[in-house]
Amino acid sequence: MTLSTPHGGKLINRYNPSVNIEHIEKEIEIDTIALSDLDLIGNGAYSPIEGFLSQADYESVVENMRLASGSVWSIPITLPVSEDVSNDFTVGETAKLVKDGVTYGMIEITDIFTPDKQKEAKNVYGTTDVAHPGVNKMLERGSVYVGGPITLISRIKRDKFESFYLDPTETREVFKSKGWNTVVGFQTRNPVHRAHEYIQKTALETVDGLFLNPLVGETKSDDISAEVRMESYQVLLKNYYPEDRVYLAVFPAAMRYAGPREAIFHAMVRKNYGCTHFIVGRDHAGVGDYYGTYDAQLIFGNFTADELGISLLFFEHSFYCKKCEGMASTKTCPHSKEDHMILSGTKVREMLRSGEIPPSTFSRKEVVEVLITGLKRETVGVN
Ligand code: ADX
Repeated sequence: MTLSTPHGGKLINRYNPSVNIEHIEKEIEIDTIALSDLDLIGNGAYSPIEGFLSQADYESVVENMRLASGSVWSIPITLPVSEDVSNDFTVGETAKLVKDGVTYGMIEITDIFTPDKQKEAKNVYGTTDVAHPGVNKMLERGSVYVGGPITLISRIKRDKFESFYLDPTETREVFKSKGWNTVVGFQTRNPVHRAHEYIQKTALETVDGLFLNPLVGETKSDDISAEVRMESYQVLLKNYYPEDRVYLAVFPAAMRYAGPREAIFHAMVRKNYGCTHFIVGRDHAGVGDYYGTYDAQLIFGNFTADELGISLLFFEHSFYCKKCEGMASTKTCPHSKEDHMILSGTKVREMLRSGEIPPSTFSRKEVVEVLITGLKRETVGVN
């Protein structure tokens, strides 16, 4: 076996720092989400996508979870602008993509269209409720979408954790150099707790390597910051994982909280990074009560194994069981809920923020220490 073939057959490379942009007069100011998408289209993490979605691709993704070409793709990658801005542009023009005075890329505009955002909310997020953080963000962004192939011109400057930002070509090199033929990808936007560790290590029993790939792009305000999480991942790996079987690198995309649809997206991107396997546990990429516990697993049933091109490893809700005296899941433990150590993410965040220590059956003590110190530092404003 070899590392996975990129989605669509080959890794896209739209990065060209020496492209001549002197003749381009017009520019579009982009937000943080579009900037992270631009970077990830450019470096091939979003292969086979080569730009912000055209109307045909967008409608096909919203409607059928596929690009117009038929490739599986579940999250619309869009460049929203206000109606006013859209009036300044016509199809066929090229615009610089700018944020805070820096030109990060350019777009050759093929489409300018007004999306049906209610439909996007319903189909992609499964709800039109504005209290849903992904829906809220999507509605807040511009009402007109600009589509077309991009060129990435400048990479985003990383002040912290620079060595953890790797492009798909680089992660593939890393996996090869380690001699891994099978690699399981793990998405997370939270500190890694015992349940995460359990499912990762269970997967690791059958594959060569674990790619711990936390999402560090824009998240909702009450999620734990990427900086603090990165410290917690490093201390966990140092103390509890065999160094030669795990690799940590970040996934700098924004979180959409789109549950099932986002699970597909997360899997396709990890395939591009070189993973042959991908973990989907309970309520993957979910928020609140919008999705059923295993909806993010069931949705993969809409596609054939060939279309997906990555093996999914599904896990049941996992926890520490007092009677079993170890980690288990609803699949392996016969005991009742009272014997299980289950804490909600919200509860844990509250505990950590008030300096209360979650039990070691929930989280490793080294991780808890890092989280409490990190959160204290952030609340006193040393961000
Ligand atoms: S996510 O939004 O990035 O999916 P999180 O970091 O909580 O959130 O989860 C990372 C992965 O671990 C997801 O695949 C999720 O389904 C899985 N997961 C989280 N907690 C558990 C648990 N207690 N049991 C089984 N799987 C879990």
